[in-house]
Amino acid sequence: MSKLKNKQGSAGIFIGLIIVVAIAAALVTALLTNIFERKSEAKNRYVRVVEVTEDTTDPAEWGKNWPKQYDGYKRTALATKTTFGGHGGSEALPEQKINRPELHWLKRMFLGYAFSIDYRDRRGHAYMLSDQEETKRHNVKQSGSCIHCHASIMPVYRKLGDGDAMAGMKKTNKMSYQELNKMAHDMGHGHPVSCVDCHDPDSMAIRVTRPGFIEGIQKLANSDAPVPAIPSIEIWRQGSRSEPYDPNEDSTRNEMRSFVCGQCHVEYYCSSDFPLTFPWSNGLKMEDLEKEWDETKLSNGERFYDYKHKETGAPILKTQHPEFELWSQGVHARSGVSCSDCHMPYMRDGASKVSDHWVRSPLLNVNRACQTCHRKSEQEILDLVDNIQQTNYKLLLRGGEALNDLMDAIMEAKKAGATAEQLNGALEMQRKAQWRLDYIAAENSMGFHAPQEAARILAEAADYARQGQVEALKLLNK
Ligand code: HEC
Ligand code: HEC
Ligand code: HEC
Ligand code: HEC
Ligand code: HEC
Repeated sequence: MSKLKNKQGSAGIFIGLIIVVAIAAALVTALLTNIFERKSEAKNRYVRVVEVTEDTTDPAEWGKNWPKQYDGYKRTALATKTTFGGHGGSEALPEQKINRPELHWLKRMFLGYAFSIDYRDRRGHAYMLSDQEETKRHNVKQSGSCIHCHASIMPVYRKLGDGDAMAGMKKTNKMSYQELNKMAHDMGHGHPVSCVDCHDPDSMAIRVTRPGFIEGIQKLANSDAPVPAIPSIEIWRQGSRSEPYDPNEDSTRNEMRSFVCGQCHVEYYCSSDFPLTFPWSNGLKMEDLEKEWDETKLSNGERFYDYKHKETGAPILKTQHPEFELWSQGVHARSGVSCSDCHMPYMRDGASKVSDHWVRSPLLNVNRACQTCHRKSEQEILDLVDNIQQTNYKLLLRGGEALNDLMDAIMEAKKAGATAEQLNGALEMQRKAQWRLDYIAAENSMGFHAPQEAARILAEAADYARQGQVEALKLLNK
């Protein structure tokens, strides 16, 4: 009985085992099929209607495969306006910044430089190439380097460098703007920033392409400047350093969501004198950039300057849109909030998410740009931003007036017969004050990207301007 029971028992176990194995096998097969399906799904996440390659700079071609993103991209041609963002003026051309009465010192501080001729509000990406082609800043001969950030230029760089884009870019500063612009159009690449500039055509992963950025971020990695906003640089520094820091290999996806913008929204210098340069070898803070320029020599051996001020003769540094640098000094960057989080927020599209390729002011889009993280009402958020921007604007105006007074004092001292040598101290103060004032005036967030840092920089601008004024006035009393 007990034996029989045992026999029956082992047969039961045996059958049970078969069932278990069968179920397990079925499960494993199902799992494998599922994994396989997902993998191929990831690979072909997008159905491609057309092939796109490294040479496909026309966004309309990419748009056939990715219509949602292309729709957003096309909207960058629409006009946008907020208190300080977007642009005033007509759709034909944005308003001149240098003609605003409150900013009267802006035009004066650029005297001797093309920015005193034509300097307008920025607008959407769709216009970047045509606005550059039209600016009257071309009254002065501009170098081919300008196109780095205004066209989908990589195939042209590769052609000029026999396949090596970096080498090709290094040739363009010797070419005239018109020559390189014509080449881009003739080769069929006369497009503003395009999909291929931020996406790998095979995998669609975001990536950086611009030689200026790659060289700049490598200089930054090689320095010992703290970069809390870019943790992957710290990790690379602790490694063997046998290969240079490669933003496309060594960074995180989250960092890439800011790097793609850092290809253009940065301080730079270019001229026929030397290739396009991002001044990041000492770090990303305002004075780190200033130090690099102060230590740079022009081909004639003089200390670097962008222009000599037409009235005072001071050797001036012009700042250009340092969004990436100012952002890097703020609490958002430190908290891992990228440019794309605010300027290209996700939109729901059925079950999937699409990044909004209508790159514009996030204040037009607070719901998706800010309220995903900040549990405040839309109005509360707008008020917070307005408070930051108005405070910054007031400081900016004060700095501007201080700089204006400094220039007045220098001119008075000059009239009274002060020599260039005697004026040296005051002129040096003009250089420092103007670099700081312009740093925040040319940055496009009106202080928002790093409010405390912006206030510090403006306080220094006013202080240097007043110190210089005192120096100049002392000469009058002699
Ligand atoms: C936390 C959100 C946030 C992040 C992160 C951020 N921005 Fe902004 N940005 C703003 C706000 C808010 C403004 C002010 C917009 C306005 O005045 O209408 C602004 C303004 C701008 C403007 C001018 C917009 C216009 O309409 O004129 C540019 C250009 C810009 N940011 C670029 C960048 C870049 C590049 C980065 C990354 C390096 C970045 N931003 C990171 C929120 C952000
Ligand atoms: C290839 C260079 C380039 C890249 C890359 C780039 N920008 Fe721009 N961006 C520009 C230029 C140039 C303009 C001004 C165009 C004009 O005024 O005609 C501009 C304008 C803007 C504006 C103003 C829009 C408006 O409606 O006034 C914002 C905001 C902006 N960019 C944010 C970003 C962000 C965020 C990224 C990254 C996701 C980015 N940009 C990537 C060059 C670039
Ligand atoms: C490192 C990238 C970069 C380079 C190089 C560059 N730009 Fe721009 N440019 C930008 C960005 C970003 C903006 C939008 C932000 C702004 O207007 O402050 C812009 C805006 C402009 C505008 C529209 C607003 C205005 O200033 O009137 C013009 C025109 C322009 N650039 C002309 C030029 C010329 C001429 C050169 C060569 C001397 C040049 N750019 C080189 C990035 C660049
Ligand atoms: C200035 C850089 C930039 C340009 C130009 C650009 N993209 Fe993107 N794109 C991004 C960023 C940033 C993301 C978010 C990627 C991430 O988080 O991994 C993205 C995401 C995407 C995605 C993934 C799905 C999604 O929406 O998040 C697709 C597809 C895409 N872009 C298509 C395009 C197409 C098509 C164009 C040209 C019409 C284009 N992009 C132009 C920066 C850019
Ligand atoms: C991905 C999340 C995220 C997004 C998106 C975001 N923020 Fe923030 N924000 C933070 C974090 C984190 C802080 C740091 C302080 C904290 O922990 O609350 C912060 C701080 C701030 C502060 C106070 C700090 C300061 O800069 O002085 C303001 C104001 C602010 N955010 C406004 C905005 C606005 C406006 C937007 C949309 C344009 C925005 N944020 C989008 C996460 C975010």
